[in-house]
Amino acid sequence: MKAAVLHEVGGIPRYEDFPDPVPGEGEVVIEVLAVAVENVDKVIAAGTHYASEKFIGHLPVIPAFDGIGSLPDGTLVGFGHPRLPYGALAERTVVPEGSYAPIPDGIDPAVATVMGSAITGMSVKTAAGFVPGETVLVQGATGVAGRLAVKVARLLGAGRIVATGRDDRQLEEVRAIGADTVINTAVSDEALARAFADAKGDGYDVVVDYLWGRPTEILLRTLTPESFTFGKPTRVIQVGESAGAGLALAAESLRTSGVEIYGAAKGLSPQTMGEAYGQVVAWAQSGELTFEVEKVPLSDIERAWQRTDLKGRRLVVVP
Ligand SMILES: NC(=O)c1ccc[n+]([C@@H]2O[C@H](COP(=O)([O-])OP(=O)(O)OC[C@H]3O[C@@H](n4cnc5c(N)ncnc54)[C@H](OP(=O)(O)O)[C@@H]3O)[C@@H](O)[C@H]2O)c1
Repeated sequence: MKAAVLHEVGGIPRYEDFPDPVPGEGEVVIEVLAVAVENVDKVIAAGTHYASEKFIGHLPVIPAFDGIGSLPDGTLVGFGHPRLPYGALAERTVVPEGSYAPIPDGIDPAVATVMGSAITGMSVKTAAGFVPGETVLVQGATGVAGRLAVKVARLLGAGRIVATGRDDRQLEEVRAIGADTVINTAVSDEALARAFADAKGDGYDVVVDYLWGRPTEILLRTLTPESFTFGKPTRVIQVGESAGAGLALAAESLRTSGVEIYGAAKGLSPQTMGEAYGQVVAWAQSGELTFEVEKVPLSDIERAWQRTDLKGRRLVVVP
């Protein structure tokens, strides 16, 4: 079969022949239909992710650990956990029996690959208990997950949505999909702090944070009052780290601000996860929630892997 094959740590996967997977006891072969290539796949392949050793400890290997495909009986499923060296970026892969879930009718496999990113937007409800009318700030709103979070916040009934990015043209697109106010983070620290303060109205209720690093450090500093007040809490949900893996958190940021910081996994249980997924599927089926994908053939993987022009669209490889 054809596959995208990684031969060296930090290398670029190459389109080439690879032995077909043979299922062992308790395994099933999946015919792959669509695979989203995300930052995490690239960071793993670069050898700089904590899971790099697990996934690329032995080379050659086929990258990507989940995707959409069909079972031998034709059922369309989302699958995960391919047996190494098999990964998702191939015509076929092999996974443990049961390591898949059916994709509902009417969902394009390429769109199905992006629904997980939309579910991170549902963390405003599952992690932060969002109620309609609240003000939501999306940090990193020009990205794939951030744009979906803006759309999800709008669909959930946010009162006001503030969105950040670092490119004015893309921020205008984010305004067009539902943000009321946009902030460019590519300015001086002082100017960014002022922008956060000016846009907060009577306070940010929920922050969905795909950035961390400098912009979120400045945000947290901005939320710290200069004198004691009975401010309303701001619930910050940590989802991603596009702007940095760490930040300096002053004690007073938590002591006097009413800021609460949660991981996106807070509040997740099979039930809340199922409800969030069901909601995203319903919106996708009704067309209320749209997904921007850039489909490319597997044969184009070398060029596609290095693309930096996607601007809010998810790269989806269609073998
Ligand atoms: N926990 C989960 O389940 C989950 C799921 C999906 C994503 N994530 C995480 O969420 C983050 C975003 O994912 P994504 O797929 O939306 O990525 P993406 O499409 O690449 O978007 C990244 C966003 O961060 C911005 N950004 C990148 N580097 C920056 C920097 N140095 N300073 C300031 N802004 C910067 C980008 O701005 P530009 O548009 O200007 O490039 C864009 O708004 C990643 O950390 C990802 O791993 C987590």
